[in-house]
Amino acid sequence: MLPIRIEKNPNPKKKPEAGKPLPFGKIFTDHMFVMNYTEGKGWYDPRIVPYGKISLDPSAMVFHYGQEMFEGLKAYHGEGDEVYLFRPDMNARRTNASNRRLCIPELPEEDFIEAVRRVVEIDRDWIPTDPGTSLYIRPFIIATDEFLGVAPSQNYLFMIILSPSGAYYENGLQPVGIWIEDEYVRAVRGGMGFAKTGGNYACSLAAQEKAHEDGYSQVLWLDGVERKYIEEVGAMNIFFKIDGTIVTPMLNGSILPGITRDSVLCYCRAHGIPCEERKISVDELIEAQRSGKLEEVFGSGTAAVISPVGKLRYRDEVFTIGDGSIGETSRRLYDYITGVQTGKVKDEFGWRFKV
Ligand code: PLP
Ligand code: COI
Repeated sequence: MLPIRIEKNPNPKKKPEAGKPLPFGKIFTDHMFVMNYTEGKGWYDPRIVPYGKISLDPSAMVFHYGQEMFEGLKAYHGEGDEVYLFRPDMNARRTNASNRRLCIPELPEEDFIEAVRRVVEIDRDWIPTDPGTSLYIRPFIIATDEFLGVAPSQNYLFMIILSPSGAYYENGLQPVGIWIEDEYVRAVRGGMGFAKTGGNYACSLAAQEKAHEDGYSQVLWLDGVERKYIEEVGAMNIFFKIDGTIVTPMLNGSILPGITRDSVLCYCRAHGIPCEERKISVDELIEAQRSGKLEEVFGSGTAAVISPVGKLRYRDEVFTIGDGSIGETSRRLYDYITGVQTGKVKDEFGWRFKV
């Protein structure tokens, strides 16, 4: 058990009103989890304190060389008074995969889960109840050494903040338009594409801006070497239903091993839905679209859940997928995953964690 010290917030804020639109990631709860690390001492002083600003020296290493990682998961209201997390063990494991890549000290997986559980428990009244809403949980670690040399920091802060949130995309389950990017690249094998770290997102902004200017929600990245094979979307993994088979790019070191992606694959395998993890070229995709075999496209992610894609743009062409509305498999996966998350569907894989 982590010996968490608790300092309750004496000035709790007003919570968002039920029934009103809830933005993604803009409102924060009354508490946050904090824990320090110092080389030679390890992780110490786990505490839950009032949510608030933190003070860092301008020379703190995170500001200069981007040594940081983050995670994203959610807490959901079940029927009655239950509160659930969805596969937090996977976030704990991925935290350490990111940490190893970024030379950040590892965190015991059980401490990660315990910290998430306890801070969610304290702010459980902040979990929204409207359909499609949840409490988004953002754990992150930053390098805090006051030093301008390029080296792994010897001091870190691990924090968890919570944000009651609605859908990631403003139009909810309405299909989104995606821009296939053939100029910028996000990651290459050997780089840090598989890690969840700020640099990967900083690198994505210029292409995302270009896509937004043209009315597209996100960018679909191609591989960084040949710009030929599909990788993933800005904040989601990507799936295609081609001639009855669900296909997604295989994990190759440059894309994020999404927890929702893994959940989709587990569900398909257990329920007899043909699925494949493999290389998919953009040419194959366009060919499938032209011959009428591209039946559905959807993204998967914690923030986005299952997000149907209605339109793809590649160079000067725009492709409308199916009839532009949510496909049958996307809908089935959305209903299943959100059903498990909120306790409405049998948890056949043991994914639900009670807080
Ligand atoms: N790919 C990227 C780049 C992401 O930011 C995310 C979101 O976390 C995902 C994929 C989906 O991962 P997960 O399903 O674990 O949220
Ligand atoms: C998530 O789905 O948790 C993400 O991290 C996506 C995004 C908000 C960066």
